[in-house]
Amino acid sequence: VNILRGNQIAVITFLVKKGDVENILNWKVVQHKNVEVPFKPARVILQDFTGVPAVVDFAAMRDAVKKLGGDPEKINPICPADLVIDHSIQLFGLQLPCLLKYSLIIFTCRSDSLQKNQDLEFERNKERFEFLKWGSQAFKNMRIIPPGSGIIHQVNLEYLARVVMDHDGYYYPDSVVGTDSHTTMIDGLGVLGWGVGGIEAEAVMLGQPISMVLPEVVGYKLLGNPQPLVTSTDIVLTITKHLRQVGVVGKFVEFFGPGVAQLSIADRATIANMCPEYGATAAYFPVDDISIGYLIQTGECKKRSQVKDYLEAVGMLRDFKNSSQDPDFTQVVELDLHTVVPCCSGPKRPQDKVAVSDMKKDFETCLGAKQGFKGFQIAPDRHNSVVKFNFEGCDFELSHGSVVIAAITSCTNTSNPSVMLGAGLLAKKAVEAGLTVKPYIKTSLSPGSGVVTYYLRESGVMSYLSQLGFDVVGYGCMTCIGNSGPLPESVVEAITQGDLVAVGVLSGNRNFEGRVHPNTRANYLASPPLVIAYAIAGTIRIDFEKEPLGINASGRKIFLKDIWPTRNEIQAVERQFVIPGMFKEVYQKIETVNESWNALDAPSDKLYTWNPKSTYIKSPPFFDGLVRARFPFESSQNAYVLLSFGDSVTTDHISPAGNIARNSPAARYLTSRGLTPREFNSYGSRRGNDAVMARGTFANIRLVNKFIDKQGPQTVHFPSGETLDVFDAAERYKQAGHSLIVLAGKEYGAGSSRDWAAKGPFLLGVKAVLAESYERIHRSNLVGMGVIPLQYLPGEDAGTLGLTGRERYTIIIPEKLKPQMNVQIKLLSLQEGRLEVVKGMEKVILMGICYDGILKQHAQSTNQSCILDQPFKVQYAFFCLS
Ligand SMILES: *[C@@H]1O[C@H](CO)[C@@H](O)[C@H](O)[C@H]1NC(C)=O
Ligand SMILES: *[C@@H]1O[C@H](CO)[C@@H](O)[C@H](O)[C@H]1NC(C)=O
Ligand SMILES: *[C@@H]1O[C@H](CO)[C@@H](O)[C@H](O)[C@H]1NC(C)=O
Ligand SMILES: *[C@@H]1O[C@H](CO)[C@@H](O)[C@H](O)[C@H]1NC(C)=O
Repeated sequence: VNILRGNQIAVITFLVKKGDVENILNWKVVQHKNVEVPFKPARVILQDFTGVPAVVDFAAMRDAVKKLGGDPEKINPICPADLVIDHSIQLFGLQLPCLLKYSLIIFTCRSDSLQKNQDLEFERNKERFEFLKWGSQAFKNMRIIPPGSGIIHQVNLEYLARVVMDHDGYYYPDSVVGTDSHTTMIDGLGVLGWGVGGIEAEAVMLGQPISMVLPEVVGYKLLGNPQPLVTSTDIVLTITKHLRQVGVVGKFVEFFGPGVAQLSIADRATIANMCPEYGATAAYFPVDDISIGYLIQTGECKKRSQVKDYLEAVGMLRDFKNSSQDPDFTQVVELDLHTVVPCCSGPKRPQDKVAVSDMKKDFETCLGAKQGFKGFQIAPDRHNSVVKFNFEGCDFELSHGSVVIAAITSCTNTSNPSVMLGAGLLAKKAVEAGLTVKPYIKTSLSPGSGVVTYYLRESGVMSYLSQLGFDVVGYGCMTCIGNSGPLPESVVEAITQGDLVAVGVLSGNRNFEGRVHPNTRANYLASPPLVIAYAIAGTIRIDFEKEPLGINASGRKIFLKDIWPTRNEIQAVERQFVIPGMFKEVYQKIETVNESWNALDAPSDKLYTWNPKSTYIKSPPFFDGLVRARFPFESSQNAYVLLSFGDSVTTDHISPAGNIARNSPAARYLTSRGLTPREFNSYGSRRGNDAVMARGTFANIRLVNKFIDKQGPQTVHFPSGETLDVFDAAERYKQAGHSLIVLAGKEYGAGSSRDWAAKGPFLLGVKAVLAESYERIHRSNLVGMGVIPLQYLPGEDAGTLGLTGRERYTIIIPEKLKPQMNVQIKLLSLQEGRLEVVKGMEKVILMGICYDGILKQHAQSTNQSCILDQPFKVQYAFFCLS
């Protein structure tokens, strides 16, 4: 508390009570009791899609304060916010799932044609970029990282992370919330962070704490040394799978034990990045010497040495080998790194894992097995057939299992530098031992970005890769699919002649059915070093333990273990060449003048001059008709059901990010503003315009609404019986003064967090959602907008209560809300016109209220005489304080 000063101390003493601090100190006792604590992260990161609406809201708040005679310049983020513009560009390069799901150090793709695309895109985005640039100049504490700097989590890791905050000479640990579930990646560097909804992020920027349940903390102990052949990818996937089995949903995971010292920052960040896969809120790696080394290598050495001094002084710098430093945990699970088994997958699907030691046996079993994912149905007498052929004047043989394609490809497996360097060092040792790859094997290298080429070259391994035929053919994003072009004719003839199961080995991450090559019936995914090893061996039918990769010109048998680089060798090269190289790339982009960005003409006024012609940026209605603080949740009288859903309605169903369909309400609106369909752009790019976003709410073409027979963004307007687009139906209800609710099944609001998935329904007049369960972030976004998330009691749902959605609902919200309290709902049946309390309905509980701590905050804020608006009255309570 002492570290914050000035205005903030007032806020802090107001929001964080002695009891909260005692709860944290008393964690051991209260950890199982669902105790809530307020948490104020040190900073916030946003990307452009979520950043635009946040800046729009801040700009609108300034207008509102001005209108009320206040000083608009008082409206600023209280805690530092960094907005990284990456999405607008990203859409052109790598595919999102491919990017975010597994990858670690991800780079934006560049090439000439891509540059052209980017220029075009820059034109399209100009308006939003100008607006953001205005924001970065108008607001204190808001920094904008211009486009082309890299992808948000990478920039956060390499550039934005402070690890220790320095606020006017006061130090405290860095922590962050971001508007993306992969924000957790930063935990790999010892910065506690996780993803929140856009509305929650705005509240944090306004100085409000996040109210969270004091979590249970699972200690994940790493022991032992990994076996040779095990790559970082194997370790990461093993830990991820293990955590999924342990069950860590909603908990913190913290790593400890001597094995942690074996993991590079890249490995740690990858594991942390996978949080959404295993459901932990955060997966934290405390700062140790390896983290400090990373900070020093990514620049600003002088400042970073204070990081070490500070953490050492407060006892937070860890030596993972010293067990007397191990903290107490709720529960401890262990992994002996020695038990991690190196794996490949195939021969037809990525999910069919095969331990490297079983590859030969497994392939031979597949040969004879019945046609299927694990079978080729080759007659037993033909398992050893051999076909001789001639290639460029020399004689060769092919048999079942012969490797004909070996490709190091993709943006994922190739993104962890240790794996790529491992391949490079293996190539070096193989060449030095006199091994070669047979010339008919189609070899290629397509790394994730130019940076990979840079460090492969700098570390001196590129020439060895080339000698084995692994030359760079293009960048991962283009060749992700492992498209390898035609095979030599004589090879194809030999395969056809012998009806051979020829093999492709590649380090991609997705399946390949029919993708790799029509003539390779078996395709295995393997780590980049193993791709090289199998290429040298020329066959997948090899047991690396017992059989040599090849025999060199001096007659010496060379085994894989003879040329496999150790983790230490790899890490030494990584430290020397990779990290500084990567950092340089990012750092230069941020620091050097980005001419297109600098040339942008951004107004320098403190208030934003809204352009009424703009179809991207529009002043939102959230602050219209500001009123004194009122209770955020209102009872609803005789509400109609706008939509009735089943399970798993995602935020993308509620507020799609993609294309604006030509005949949709949003399209009609944009057409009326003089735009042609070519200029529509996506919903994601128009999050600065509430008129488009309201019309885009529930506009996903895959929406399944129980009121309608076929899927589509439509619903029934009950008073007229007409079937209308959802927005149009909502407008009609609104004009007639009717409230609306939404019925849903399980996991309502799953998927990526999206504040428009709460703002949109609010603008349509939705007062409450009645669901079986909610995704956590979405639920808090609903609360933030004053849309009440109601939840059926366990075991009950619309079916058991006999609800059809064709009733009218009166929801009675008591004045005094209590956590998990029951809420009464009265129903008016549309057919009979009788108002009654349906049996069981009074037990519907109000969710999210206790969880989000909004009750307490509400109690506090109503004591203040401050001006609050409808949807944001709780969120914005504290900007009123000043
Ligand atoms: C500057 O920003 C534009 C905007 O998209 C981007 O295309 C370009 O690559 C950036 N320039 C550099 C040097 O990164
Ligand atoms: C282990 O850590 C404790 C606590 O920080 C410290 O007092 C002790 O000297 C350390 N032991 C070794 C061998 O470094
Ligand atoms: C064969 O391998 C041995 C052991 O690695 C090495 O010393 C020798 O130089 C190699 N011979 C050739 C011709 O490369
Ligand atoms: C990476 O390669 C391994 C083979 O070592 C494969 O099993 C895995 O599916 C790939 N993983 C990812 C995340 O791409």
